Amino acid sequence: MTTDRIHDRLDDLACDASLESADRWRWRADVLDWLDSLSPVLAGGVADRAQALRTRLERADAALYGRLRAAIRRGLGPGLFGRWQQQRRDPIEGEGYDALDELLAGVLRLADPGAGSRPLEPEMVFYQPTPARHVLDMLARSRLGPRDVLVDLGSGLGHVPMLASICTGARTVGVEWQPSHVQVARHAARALGLHDVEFRAQDARDADLALGTVFFLYTPFVGSVLRTMLEALREEGRRRPIQVCTFGPCTGVIAGEAWLRTDEPTRADRVAVFQVARPSNH
Ligand SMILES: C[S@@+](CC[C@H](N)C(=O)[O-])C[C@H]1O[C@@H](n2cnc3c(N)ncnc32)[C@H](O)[C@@H]1O
Repeated sequence: MTTDRIHDRLDDLACDASLESADRWRWRADVLDWLDSLSPVLAGGVADRAQALRTRLERADAALYGRLRAAIRRGLGPGLFGRWQQQRRDPIEGEGYDALDELLAGVLRLADPGAGSRPLEPEMVFYQPTPARHVLDMLARSRLGPRDVLVDLGSGLGHVPMLASICTGARTVGVEWQPSHVQVARHAARALGLHDVEFRAQDARDADLALGTVFFLYTPFVGSVLRTMLEALREEGRRRPIQVCTFGPCTGVIAGEAWLRTDEPTRADRVAVFQVARPSNH
């Protein structure tokens, strides 16, 4: 893009008062991406104009995050994120992150656990968050409601239990092996006044599963650790109906479990929602 064209676009954006409106957060994210792509090549006056626009957009985002945090503290979470999910045009698949993840990061303010993490044991998978659109998809397709208890097995920094509680009013529990991650999650949940969200620092194999109605696994472990966990979940499924929701490569393994069934084709880059199959099968 030539400098003249950049000036033209900056002129247009400078006149666009709607850029600050709450509903235009996706558009702001696109413009910020555009500014990021330009910054290495800009200098002088045009760089100053680009920086002024960036400051304006970041202020609008910060104000939106503040309003959302206040709404969540007042218990007005249900509906907040679902409304934004509906503005999406793309199908809910793929492992990449998007503007919804930026928004969620701004709202949850999860700190960096820093150097406090301990080395993972064999077959444990490192922390990587489920993209927010998939979490919302999982909440909708599992029909998680206020009578449910969602257990995120390997909850990392805790955004799945927090988002689930905010959106549905369900009680949620995150079980995470890294104490540093649990500390970050607890702090963020407290700051948002999320009283029905709990984080337990323990190995998922030692977790009390009796309280859960819906279990979520974003491939937290593989091999014998996953096998042990699946046996424990199968025992729970013998006692009462549960749902097991999965994301990532573990979906392929879990789809092979005869005691679980799903009505939809499974793929690694979309949440799968499994129910307990009829008792004769397990
Ligand atoms: C891929 S991340 C998923 C994080 C989160 N559930 C999400 O969807 O955003 C896997 C997490 O599982 C944790 N983990 C691995 N093995 C574990 C175990 N045996 N018990 C509890 N957590 C474990 C890791 O520390 C990591 O935070």
